[in-house]
Amino acid sequence: MESKETLLEIKNLVMDFRIGHSKSNLMRAVNDVSFELKKGEALAIVGESGSGKSTGARILTRIYENTGGSVTFKGKPLAEYIRENGELEYARQVQMIFQDPFGSLNPVHNIYHHIARPLLIHKRANKQNVADKVYELLELVGLSPVVETAEKFPHELSGGQRQRVAIARAIAVDPEVILADEPISMLDVSVRLGILNLMADLKEQHGIAFMYITHDIATARYFAEKTAVMYVGHMVEWGDSDSVTQTPQHPYSKLLLSAVPEVGRAGRRDLSVKKGEIPLWKPSSVGCPFASRCPIATEACTQSMPEATEVKPGHYARCHHL
Ligand SMILES: Nc1ncnc2c1ncn2[C@@H]1O[C@H](COP(=O)(O)OP(=O)(O)OP(=O)(O)O)[C@@H](O)[C@H]1O
Ligand SMILES: [Mg+2]
Repeated sequence: MESKETLLEIKNLVMDFRIGHSKSNLMRAVNDVSFELKKGEALAIVGESGSGKSTGARILTRIYENTGGSVTFKGKPLAEYIRENGELEYARQVQMIFQDPFGSLNPVHNIYHHIARPLLIHKRANKQNVADKVYELLELVGLSPVVETAEKFPHELSGGQRQRVAIARAIAVDPEVILADEPISMLDVSVRLGILNLMADLKEQHGIAFMYITHDIATARYFAEKTAVMYVGHMVEWGDSDSVTQTPQHPYSKLLLSAVPEVGRAGRRDLSVKKGEIPLWKPSSVGCPFASRCPIATEACTQSMPEATEVKPGHYARCHHL
């Protein structure tokens, strides 16, 4: 049924970090995470702070090397793809947009420079046509008048405009995948929708695959076809966004959704959470990471993390009590 091309395939991804300087004292920031990013499709990764969302994106942009599991790009193991095509080519195809558009733009360079540079580095333009390409991209992301905007410096733009520049810079090199790490969370509510709609156009018209990292499950549903819920490095529930957000099955997803004021969803207002601590996950830890806070946890939950159950077609959750 699914015919969209899989660009990135992540299987059983694990990322351990050292705590302090000791080699043996490790925390497991990402544990057994699997997902796919498909052409023209967005996957939202939702979860609270520290759940491992950014770490996943950083592995995909090769900032971190994963401890375990595999990453496949266009059907090839990532290392092999890079050996054959080069780091630069992979970096061109998999772009990242960060939460803070100010931090990701260089204050000493104007907007023209920010967009011309990747076009030239990745040979998407030459000296003769680079200006036209810069203006074309500014137009595409809704930053007109383009010539005047190009002359400005980052501090002369609003947060929303800066994020549009970051998007223009990312798409300048014709990427196949964009990893957007909370791209709208620092923006005024009034401009968030504009940025989301711009990303939706890029997804639908240019076939770009998005990994959309967010705390906000409402925008996950608005923008992304698929949603995955993460808790303490684990993917606890995933599937079609409508199904996951309308009929969450994992107690943690229910809790997350209970915080969203929206009518028409059932069975969540009465949810209570235990005041247990959020665990520091270790390679040796066992059980469900949510057990310490889960209102329905039993002995089994402290002993093992269950395999995924398909609760509805294309909708999975990992809970002993489904
Ligand atoms: N370079 C690092 N060294 C050690 N620990 C790290 C490193 N990067 C992340 N961590 C730890 O890994 C865990 C997951 O961090 P991550 O940044 O992926 O969370 P997140 O889900 O993106 O959170 P947020 O919503 O706050 O951005 C955290 O406990 C964090 O402290
Ligand atoms: Mg993060």
